[in-house]
Amino acid sequence: MHLMGIDIGTTGTRTLVVDLSGRLVASAVETYGLSTPRPLWSEQDPGDWWTATIRTIRIVLETVPAESIQAIGLSGQMHGLVLLDEQGVVLRPAILWNDQRTSEQCEWITRRVGRDALMMETCNPVLTGFTAGKILWVRDHERTVFDRARRILLPKDYVRFKLSGGFATDVSDASGTSLFNVHRRRWSDILLSSLALEPALFPEVLESSGLSGAVSKEAAEITGLKPGTRIVAGAGDQAAGAVGAGVVQRGIVSVSLGTSGVVFAHAESPATDPLLRTHTFCHAVPDKWHLMGVMLSAGGSLRWWRDALCGEEVAAARQRGTDAYELIAASAAKVPAGAEGLLFLPYLTGERTPHADPLARGAFVGLTLRTGKAHMARAVMEGVAYALNDSLSILKDLHVPIEEIRITGGGARSSVWRQMIADVFQRPLVSLAVDEGPAWGAALLAGTGCGAYPSVPDACRRCVRTAGVTEPNRAHAGVYQHGCQRFRELYPNLKEDFAAADLSRK
Ligand code: XUL
Repeated sequence: MHLMGIDIGTTGTRTLVVDLSGRLVASAVETYGLSTPRPLWSEQDPGDWWTATIRTIRIVLETVPAESIQAIGLSGQMHGLVLLDEQGVVLRPAILWNDQRTSEQCEWITRRVGRDALMMETCNPVLTGFTAGKILWVRDHERTVFDRARRILLPKDYVRFKLSGGFATDVSDASGTSLFNVHRRRWSDILLSSLALEPALFPEVLESSGLSGAVSKEAAEITGLKPGTRIVAGAGDQAAGAVGAGVVQRGIVSVSLGTSGVVFAHAESPATDPLLRTHTFCHAVPDKWHLMGVMLSAGGSLRWWRDALCGEEVAAARQRGTDAYELIAASAAKVPAGAEGLLFLPYLTGERTPHADPLARGAFVGLTLRTGKAHMARAVMEGVAYALNDSLSILKDLHVPIEEIRITGGGARSSVWRQMIADVFQRPLVSLAVDEGPAWGAALLAGTGCGAYPSVPDACRRCVRTAGVTEPNRAHAGVYQHGCQRFRELYPNLKEDFAAADLSRK
């Protein structure tokens, strides 16, 4: 008996199959691009997600018979807006989580609904990354598209629709729309009516391990899946990833290094940060919540560095059959901790935690004639570590218990980067035996939904194993404490200039 997890990520879709003990049996990834038609915009074609889903399912089914798949769990990048017409046809490219075009709409929503009512209902401020602003942007700027829209979906829920023909989402993903009552785990009547949005546009909301439908005959023919295979609601990528990392109880916190960087803590109640720096969303565990600090460009910063300036390393890696990131990290490791005073601000796509500022930008500060590429690579990696530390400090301020920190995600595979983060945090970081990300968590949710495990925490107890600890180097405590302080002071000093750099308002 097997379980399938599918994650619709920002750089690609990953499909995997595990057995009931959580052992990985097959996995496949297909990547796709992201378009930035204008500064601050970020879009993808939902058709690419579906094509990648079909291809990756077909690949894993070469190893595992379709009949043995008991259930499928879905996960995906959060907040993205997919609009469908009456026939279920996509009306425009999806507007993604890291798109920053909606400042005006977010300000308008906040004025109209009022900050207090927003906090009471959604537990969060309305941020440009969240879905509500994107919906209103389409209504304001592409009225004919909006008028034809009959369904509003989040990325993984579009794939659910293609797989089953049904419309549904889950509580964790719905939490990131700014239209969801996070306390009561249902769409917010107050938000929908204040913004004049038809409730019928929105899908049914289920708990993450709830059954949402089954693979249709048509989808079975295209993918090779068995018709009738059950599909559970699943979760947004952060909550699904947290399930995969066993972050389903007090005291365990995870740090995930994907395109975004997230510090995630389980919560027994929907507690909020009075300064609104972290998000409070429903967890993928019934009747539980989570707090998270989200930086928008974590792995994304290193990808930018590689793509913009590391052509040589990319070519060398290709020749040697290795990964350019390994060569970049190896060069960074030769530079002393603190990069000789060079700092990097990783706000390449604006920022969310702790500075909810769509106009924030990246910066190198402290260049000298001695600065070389290796210093800059180290500064990029350390800048991400400092920014993650900002989120961790907020959780500490909020008295969230932090007994163990687990590190996950593509970036966490780099021992050099893990060490920098452990040194900046001055805390041990625990790695996972299986670090397959949100798709793996989605498979565990599938197992819970089809009754293979009694509950999500039971699924984690049975399948999640830790493997190895990165201990902090105490000798680096001083240099990184100094670095953290300088890093924190930079954003307030540069804020005005970042806003002035936005020429679209000139
Ligand atoms: C979470 C967030 C990102 C995306 C993409 O709030 O915006 O982590 O889910 O991974």
